[in-house]
Amino acid sequence: MVYTAIMGYGTIGSGVFEVLRENRAEIAAAAGQELEVKYVLDLRDFPGDPAEEKLVHDVSVIVNDPEVRIVVETMGGLDPAYPFVKACLEAGKHVATSNKALVAAYGTELLAVAREHHVNFMFEASTGGGIPIIRMLYRCLAGEKISAVTGILNGTTNYILTKMDRDGEDFCQALKEAQRLGYAEKDPTADVEGYDTCRKLAILMAMVTGREVDYQEIYTEGITEVQAGDFLYARAMGRAIKLVGSACLDAGRLSAWVVPMLVKPDNPLCGVGDVYNAILVRSNMLGTSMYYGSGAGKLPTASAVAADMIEAAAHLDEHVPLGWSAEKLSVESAENNVCRYFLRITGRPEACSGILESYLGSCGTVTVEELAGTEFAVMTAAMREGDFREAEKKLRPELAAAGCEIVRILRAE
Ligand code: HSE
Repeated sequence: MVYTAIMGYGTIGSGVFEVLRENRAEIAAAAGQELEVKYVLDLRDFPGDPAEEKLVHDVSVIVNDPEVRIVVETMGGLDPAYPFVKACLEAGKHVATSNKALVAAYGTELLAVAREHHVNFMFEASTGGGIPIIRMLYRCLAGEKISAVTGILNGTTNYILTKMDRDGEDFCQALKEAQRLGYAEKDPTADVEGYDTCRKLAILMAMVTGREVDYQEIYTEGITEVQAGDFLYARAMGRAIKLVGSACLDAGRLSAWVVPMLVKPDNPLCGVGDVYNAILVRSNMLGTSMYYGSGAGKLPTASAVAADMIEAAAHLDEHVPLGWSAEKLSVESAENNVCRYFLRITGRPEACSGILESYLGSCGTVTVEELAGTEFAVMTAAMREGDFREAEKKLRPELAAAGCEIVRILRAE
């Protein structure tokens, strides 16, 4: 029997408790022994809840109990998650967390503390929800040279974009529903502004490269500006709008960004809807592989935490080498990223076609019935972001003189 503790009895923490109870026999068989929750830490009381008798309000009860070998952190945020996790690792306990903010901000240090104390700091649930992408990277793809990772890494925004596209819902309506279903973070800013995807992408690239990747260096845009009209054009082109986190490694140089993208119909990410996440990994021997599953939600995320607990239980007296070192890998400027650009422009196409071409090169024109007469759209060929921004600056006043205005820009494959 291995004694465990859960810090934070919210959506994910209570999910872990449920998974451990529901799949007790399977988990015991996989771990080689039973996992017993000895404590649940939370500030609140939960009268009548199955975890009621395990509740403690003081972290030192867990830290100071030598019987507790594995601790789950599902509090979210940095304070007090960071000091609590560090104290547990220093006390020689394995820690499994679902907290990407913690892993992105303090992963390097916590991995080092775990190494020093011969325990494990595991964070499968921090990225891709229930998809075992972290384990895939440090185990199954460990012998591959990975050159690109592109993914839909946030369930909430994918759910919102799917609802807006499929059901014509507005942004706020779809966000409320995502929150009700337990997908969104407490403060949905992290989801809708792309910060959550950005942190997850940094974690993945640190796993891929074995070096620290600072999420704050990744250029990030969210989905709050995506409009109903954008979906009309996307549909007309057979494309989908997805919040994509994308990173490439070329001769040791890392480029990355998080942006809403018009994804092509033949890209497997195009069909990934609802709360699902998917990650495409390009590597030199395997080629492109895709990892798909529930990217958020109570039980899928808890399932990933349980998998880490099993791994920790199977390596109770051993450090599993996973993660990255303190050596830093900088992210290149997004100015050098290359993609196509989709521009919605008010006015008549004839009034500005020569102007557009002189700055953007030859562009394809797209119109949709619903907006015909008031606006049209163009799609450029692939360009450097920096070149596009320069061109856009010069283009705007010339278009204005011709009675046209760019009202929306989206990046596209
Ligand atoms: N809010 C996150 C999401 C939870 O929607 O993907 C899972 O990390």
